[in-house]
Amino acid sequence: MTKEEYMDETRSITDLILKAKEKAYAETNNEPEPGLTTSVEWPVHCEVGPGLEGAIAGETEIGYVNGTKGWLIYRGYDIFDLAAYSTYEEVSYLLLHGDLPTRSQLSEYKQKLIANRHHFQTKRQLMGFPIEQWTPMSALRLGTLFMRQKQTYRDYESYRSESMSIATDEDSIPMEIPPYAESHAKYEFNKKQFEIPDMDTGNLRGSEGLESCYRLVAALPSITAAIARIRSGHLPLEPRSDLSHAANFLYMMNGKEPTPLQARVMDVSMILHADHGMNASTFAAMVVASTLSDIYFSIGSGIAALNGPLHGGANEEVLKSLLEIGSPENVPPWYEEKRKNKDRIMGFGHRVYKAYDPRARVLEPLASLLASDSNEYTKNLYNTAHALENQVVSTLGEEKKIFPNVDFYSGIVYSALGIKSEMFTPIFAVARVAGWTARVYEYLQHNRIFRPRAVYTGRFDRKYTHLGERGN
Ligand code: CMC
Repeated sequence: MTKEEYMDETRSITDLILKAKEKAYAETNNEPEPGLTTSVEWPVHCEVGPGLEGAIAGETEIGYVNGTKGWLIYRGYDIFDLAAYSTYEEVSYLLLHGDLPTRSQLSEYKQKLIANRHHFQTKRQLMGFPIEQWTPMSALRLGTLFMRQKQTYRDYESYRSESMSIATDEDSIPMEIPPYAESHAKYEFNKKQFEIPDMDTGNLRGSEGLESCYRLVAALPSITAAIARIRSGHLPLEPRSDLSHAANFLYMMNGKEPTPLQARVMDVSMILHADHGMNASTFAAMVVASTLSDIYFSIGSGIAALNGPLHGGANEEVLKSLLEIGSPENVPPWYEEKRKNKDRIMGFGHRVYKAYDPRARVLEPLASLLASDSNEYTKNLYNTAHALENQVVSTLGEEKKIFPNVDFYSGIVYSALGIKSEMFTPIFAVARVAGWTARVYEYLQHNRIFRPRAVYTGRFDRKYTHLGERGN
């Protein structure tokens, strides 16, 4: 299907996004432009709050978050327009390269992504671990480390043969761990047999830098889908080269080719999650890269930071809350109790947005669309979420400018697409890897190791006491 046909067939989604844009602009256009948008002179003076709030850690041309208006910009383009008219392939190219691709650039880039979707050795190595007992984010993090190891060199494009697959790979024994010596011997044997082709050192400053970024953008969906399949007792699926990035990801997760509408919803959600300023996971990835460690360690750190419930982990927590509430009528007492205990309501509030998060403005109507055509379970989730939003916005929204964030409706969308809640945060990572790699790549061109300081408030006057003198 060409992009034009795909967009035609999913026109209803474009219309919903454009309507959300219109509403956003009508509600927030008069808000003042906050923050700095021009180059700074170093050293820079700025007001810094706890958690480095307000600190300027560098300059970027990648993305801008206008928290007062609730606008999000990637490389100069409004997120609403990218969500309405673009694809994840175009947007990840845009983030990495600075411009939207031409037809031929896009075709070449897509081929690179498709070629890097195969990661059967990485998947096979993951299958050697009891990952069904781990959280999917730990398995994903491990997957990026396996990508880094020489043992997986056969995953690289220059060696990969189309006919190879998990099932036909000669030493694939699903769910069985070969003795170390045996696998090591095989590795040594293979190493002798094949020249290790252009090893990816993960060095972003070399000419191979962008290739490493493509590899990660292409691989994370395959690894994540494999984790989902293994955890539910299935073998990972081979990627399909005839499907788009989002459609192939859904296919590998669910084992079923998605409809154009489902693929488009996933595509839009991935665009919305692709980048978001110096958030905690992006910063974590950048800090690791700034030591001239490598891109795999760096992205692994991004994954680790994203895992927390105050960041990417909130989407899974939102679903837990909605299930705990049970139905729209139970929202008021549930919310009252939370307010009394001063608990945080997951999926609400944001360090930067003091307005409705534009990504939530898009995800809400998508969740509504999917729910209207879904089973009672999803309909009830959506209705409960909607009732909760009304309660929170009319109270915390008025008092503290707390509105739904990107994580509030994304879980309902993924749930309606047939995805288990444990996979919500890994899906966030699958999309965010474009922003992580783009920002790390950009920063490393003028790298300076990150080294903020902490104010020491401890004591200076203590004399060392030996163990025996310290009492019990
Ligand atoms: N529910 C109830 N009250 C809240 C919430 C919330 N979700 N978020 C903030 N507040 C209150 C907070 O208690 C504080 O009140 P007070 O001034 O009376 O002490 C005030 O709002 C300011 O909060 P803060 O802790 O200074 O805000 P922050 O910028 O440090 O935190 C946040 C931002 C996202 C960590 C926070 O809003 C939160 O914990 N939200 C819930 C978790 C969540 O949904 N996270 C996803 C974030 S968006 C996607 C992503 O980045 O991954």
